[in-house]
Amino acid sequence: MSKPKVLVTRIIPDKGLDLIKDFCDVDLWEAAMPPNREELLRHVRGVDGLLCLLTDKIDHEVMDAAGTRLKVISNFAVGFDNIDVNAATARKIPVGNTPDVLTDATADFAFTLMMSASRRLLEPDRYLREGKWQTWEPMQLLGQEMKNATLGLVGFGRIGKAMARRAVGFDMRVIYYDPTEIKHDPDLKATNVDFETLLAESDFISLHTPLTTDTHHLIDSEALSRMKPSAVLINTARGPVVDPDALYEALKEHRIFAAGLDVTEPEPLPADHPLLTLDNIIIAPHIASATVAARDKMAWMAARNLIAGLQGEHLPNCVNPQVYK
Ligand code: GLV
Repeated sequence: MSKPKVLVTRIIPDKGLDLIKDFCDVDLWEAAMPPNREELLRHVRGVDGLLCLLTDKIDHEVMDAAGTRLKVISNFAVGFDNIDVNAATARKIPVGNTPDVLTDATADFAFTLMMSASRRLLEPDRYLREGKWQTWEPMQLLGQEMKNATLGLVGFGRIGKAMARRAVGFDMRVIYYDPTEIKHDPDLKATNVDFETLLAESDFISLHTPLTTDTHHLIDSEALSRMKPSAVLINTARGPVVDPDALYEALKEHRIFAAGLDVTEPEPLPADHPLLTLDNIIIAPHIASATVAARDKMAWMAARNLIAGLQGEHLPNCVNPQVYK
């Protein structure tokens, strides 16, 4: 019997790729850059399954190009705003993602950004390399302290809760805003507040919300103007949750203290982007889940979702379970 045909849009860790190769006839996109639109539309034609990345926009056109054999879309990411899930559901195509396995890696990195931005980590490094260090100074490169500070979490899902657990060890007070139905974990000392209160009371604000029409530019000039001048903003969620122009103005005028971003709008952020002219921001190229362990597990989970879909089984992690009704 012939194997199902799948397109895998980038090289992923062997933990997942080996599984897929055993079971499928794989068209593996091996280039360093993702397939462009035309290449994606061409390579997806006639596949039974698609394993894609957050850099691939998977909309109705891609699904139509794949054709009626397409049984499953497996995203190598927990976020899935790159996929038109409604279009997939209308075609009864289950969409898989990779939750849980990257929660700790992502929370660790959000915390790293929080500490680095609040203690201005890159500034002293640059200062030293430029040969400017002459003596110890009482008022030099002062940052913000974490002990007894308030951490405001926007989004209190898996990663938000992992942040709250870490904050306990730093003696922080934790508040969160999450308009979706969430299960509160009574073991976590965190208080549910409205968005206004979170903006006004937080010393650190960390974003852990999916990108939706409601959260697009949630952090705009209005929201930034309600934050403390000493506030540190961290985004490891999705770039467009923050309005980059508003953030630039707020940081340039020192209306907030600092920011740490792992995600930006756009991605990649051009090297001549105004944000990169500022000292009070640290920016990483979307690497919060980039540990060996997390990426191995993401590959394995994405492969399992793909294969389950090809076999007509429920995906272990399905974002549109209504397709099974
Ligand atoms: C990364 O951003 C992910 O959604 O997994």
